[in-house]
Amino acid sequence: MKGLIFTEFLAMVEEVHSLDMVDEIIENCDLPSGGAYTTVGTYDHTEIVALVCELSAKSGVEVNDLLKAFGTYLFTSLSRTYPEFVSKADDPLSFLEEVETYIHIEVRKLYPEAELPTFYCSRPNSPNELHMIYESMRHMEDVCEGLIIGCMKHFDQKFNLTREKLPDGNELFILEKLG
Ligand code: HEM
Repeated sequence: MKGLIFTEFLAMVEEVHSLDMVDEIIENCDLPSGGAYTTVGTYDHTEIVALVCELSAKSGVEVNDLLKAFGTYLFTSLSRTYPEFVSKADDPLSFLEEVETYIHIEVRKLYPEAELPTFYCSRPNSPNELHMIYESMRHMEDVCEGLIIGCMKHFDQKFNLTREKLPDGNELFILEKLG
């Protein structure tokens, strides 16, 4: 997993808690990297799981809530780092469809070693209802939910979001535009 994801996670911990909290969770986890991340480096994705578990133990906030909050934070960071992807879009559902067909493809050109999920998108019932099936060996469904929420907030769009685990282990997100 790219160092960018780690540096953004630690920036969120510093913003919401403190720099001491950042130091403490790094010290308490036995991290192969030692916790020294650079944005362009690549690290084992299990390190983020360890850091989140440690933050949960220290803060009393559930792991899945921390992961969702991180996803929302991450969307804001990504849209600042890569404004060209977000500025072209005028509709959040079309933007989300483009994550698979355009954005992550561009990301892979920048970072050939990126570990990206696969999305299967469709609008089976109405143009205002997007079905997104998330598939990833890393199972970052909660981060994904947070990213989707961050995206809808960015476009200032009211919405309903439901989640369902499919029999094959993938996750279906159903996103409905409101208003
Ligand atoms: C400006 C838009 C976006 C950019 C530039 C971007 C870029 C990236 C990058 C750099 C990674 C890390 C890859 C790695 O660490 O190896 C990543 C992972 C990920 N992205 Fe995106 N992304 C964007 C939007 C989104 C959105 C809107 C979603 C959700 C629908 C999403 C879902 C994910 C997930 C869930 C991962 C974690 C890896 C996994 O689940 O396997 N991304 N993305």
